[in-house]
Amino acid sequence: MKLAVFCSGRGSNFQAILDAVRRRRLRAEVAVMVCDNPRAYALERARRAGVPVFCFDSRRFADRADYEHLVTAVLRSQGVGLVVLAGFMRILTPVFVRAWRGRILNIHPSYLPEFKGAHAIRDAFRAGVRQTGVTVHWVTQALDAGPPVLRQRVPVRPSDTLETLEARIHRVEHRLYPAAIKRVIDGARKRAL
Ligand code: GRF
Repeated sequence: MKLAVFCSGRGSNFQAILDAVRRRRLRAEVAVMVCDNPRAYALERARRAGVPVFCFDSRRFADRADYEHLVTAVLRSQGVGLVVLAGFMRILTPVFVRAWRGRILNIHPSYLPEFKGAHAIRDAFRAGVRQTGVTVHWVTQALDAGPPVLRQRVPVRPSDTLETLEARIHRVEHRLYPAAIKRVIDGARKRAL
């Protein structure tokens, strides 16, 4: 299974996926990274790993559909079977989501449907909840609302700062994302038999 991993920033989930592939825990190939931020650290990780990158500056495109045409062409030319959003901060158009329906995953740092949106860890921390979580879900047109593939609870400890909670959530993400991708790939393989 060929994966395209979409990133905008640090790329630690991209790294976790790459490591799982290298250790043969995941029978997949990271065929390309798609990145919308020319200054993202994720690009450096891709360069070191020799993963081809398609990077664009979204400010140069009049509307989302324009760069999505290019992204689609890249995915097709690489034979991509699964799109993996890993900290990609751009909302995809309904046209793109429809075209890749059932083939786009996202990771969200909460136990969805709790704490949707761009500040899920901070929102959970400020709400004073005792547990939050991580969700890997299918991407549909409704934001952070597609069916979950895997979810895991993460405790919030009384001594936590926002930083310690973030670190705990990211550690869970780095295990959960490769596990969810494996589940999807194994499911696809079974259907093909
Ligand atoms: C993660 O917390 C993920 O849940 C969210 O964006 C963050 C990306 O982090 N969607 P990284 O770029 O993978 O380090």
